[in-house]
Formats: sequence, C-alpha cells, structure tokens
Amino acid sequence: MELAGVVEALGPKATKWRVGDKVYGDTSNGGLGTFAEFVSVPEDELRRIPEGLSFVEAAAIPHALELAYQAVVGLGKLKDGERVLINGGGGGVGTFALQLAKRQRCTVWGVDTGEKLQAMMAMGFDRVIDYTQQDFTQLGERFDLVVDARTKRSAGELARALAPNGRYVTVGGDPGRLIALLFARWFGRRSRQSGTKRMHILALKSNKNLDDLAPLLSSSALKPVIDGPYAFHELPRLIRRFGEGLHTGKVVVRVLEEQ
Ligand SMILES: NC(=O)c1ccc[n+]([C@@H]2O[C@H](COP(=O)([O-])OP(=O)(O)OC[C@H]3O[C@@H](n4cnc5c(N)ncnc54)[C@H](OP(=O)(O)O)[C@@H]3O)[C@@H](O)[C@H]2O)c1
Repeated sequence: MELAGVVEALGPKATKWRVGDKVYGDTSNGGLGTFAEFVSVPEDELRRIPEGLSFVEAAAIPHALELAYQAVVGLGKLKDGERVLINGGGGGVGTFALQLAKRQRCTVWGVDTGEKLQAMMAMGFDRVIDYTQQDFTQLGERFDLVVDARTKRSAGELARALAPNGRYVTVGGDPGRLIALLFARWFGRRSRQSGTKRMHILALKSNKNLDDLAPLLSSSALKPVIDGPYAFHELPRLIRRFGEGLHTGKVVVRVLEEQ
C-alpha cells in the first residue's frame, strides 16, 4: 500500500503531475496493490519525493512516518523532555516514532523482541524491554506518552503505564482490544473516570504531512530504517518474514532497477 516511482502516464483529468515526476505515497485510500511494475493511483495519493532521497528510501516512508507523526505529534501532543514508551518499537512505526521523540530530547523506551532489541539500542532507544520476558504495564514505570503498534491489553492495564496527564495512542493491534478501548474511552468520557489520562485510537490520514516533513527527510533529520531492499521474486518469502516479525523497520521490495 505504499510506493515510490516515476509518473509514466496521466489520466485525462490528471493535472497535478507531469510524466517523469518522481513521486511516492500511501495508496491505502486509493486502492491497495503496489507490488507491480505499473500502478494506477489517484493523483491526490501521491507526493513529490523529497530532494536527495532514493526510491528505496522513499518507499519506506509514507505509511509508517504518517502513523508515527500523527501518533506522537498529532494525538500524542508530545512535549520536550517527556518520558515515552513505544510498544512495537522495532517496526516501521516504532523506528520513526523514536526519531520524532528524540528530536524533542525525550527519554524513549522501546518494547519488542529478539535481535531487534540490540538494533533498537543502536538506533537510540534509552531502554528496551523484551515483551516475551516482561510486561511493560507491570514495571511500575510511568510514561507521559505510550505509542502502541500492537495493542493487546485492556485500558485498565495500559493506564498503569501512564503518568498523570499521560497519553496513550494506539495505531493498531488486536481488534477486540481496540473495540474495548473505544468503549473504555466513551465510558471514561461520560463518567470522567479516566481522570487526566487520555487514550486515543488513531485513524490514519494518509500522506497528510509528507510535504511538511520533506525538509527533515531531505536533511536526514528523519531517516527510514530499511529492511532490504529485496528483489521482486523474493516477495513470498518476505511476506512470511514480515508475518513472523523477523523484519526491523520497513521491508522494501525493488520492482525495477533504479535508472
Ligand atoms: N491506525 C490506522 O489507521 C492504521 C492503518 C494501517 C495500519 N495500521 C496498523 O499499524 C501497525 C503497523 O505498525 P508497523 O508498521 O510498525 O508494524 P510492524 O513493522 O510489524 O511493527 C510492529 C512491531 O511490533 C512487534 N510486536 C509484535 N507483537 C508485539 C507485542 N506483543 N508487544 C510488543 N511488540 C510486538 C513486532 O515484532 P515481532 O513481530 O517480532 O514480535 C514488530 O517489530 C499495525 O498494527 C497496523 O495494523 C494502522
């Protein structure tokens, strides 16, 4: 659902782009399916690739960076120097959320597993937790912002990891838990039982901030963590690899050799 490439042809009503333009984008609103040499995409789902980025770098950005940015800056309203925990820190969203939080001089803990933990420390996490060994809601640690890419707990359990005025933002997870969170939020709002802790479920607005973030991408202030790039014929293996969670950051597949 995300791609980077060159405009080859334009539909009769297309006005935004020219043939030859280098573009990228999250196509989840305009129809899925980007594992192809040619993809027909509504022109509004595309943005100009920031100066200096390769197609491989650009392809790793739209979905994960927007989820991370809308979670950390949008709903999370992160303030300088706060304490942040990112559950699923070794994935696409987590690795961008780390960089955004570090730009605001925050202390950032990451939860994930396996070899990713060492890679996450090298990326700049201040502390990593192995979710197969420890439950971050049982550590007695409190965070101003928790960003969750794998919601698997109840609102009550998650609230334990929040400091007063703490914000919890989920970008995804177990559907049952997300629905329960929705009810907990609604019920909390009605009965003010949630006190000062806020729980949010993010609904992605694809490609919304990419142009504003382009200077940070061009200057490498924000950099995608890439797993790959791999060749097109490796796709079946890579989908299994993603499913088994063996990837770190974003898995990128090269469909055509860069000209
Ligand atoms: N909100 C929206 O509008 C929207 C739109 C599209 C996608 N999404 C969601 O966005 C999320 C995508 O995040 P992503 O690209 O960062 O995914 P990702 O690359 O798969 O990263 C998720 C990370 O979480 C780890 N993980 C798995 N189970 C965990 C657990 N129990 N506790 C802690 N970490 C765990 C995974 O590692 P292992 O697998 O090795 O454990 C992986 O490193 C998905 O949940 C997707 O459903 C949301």
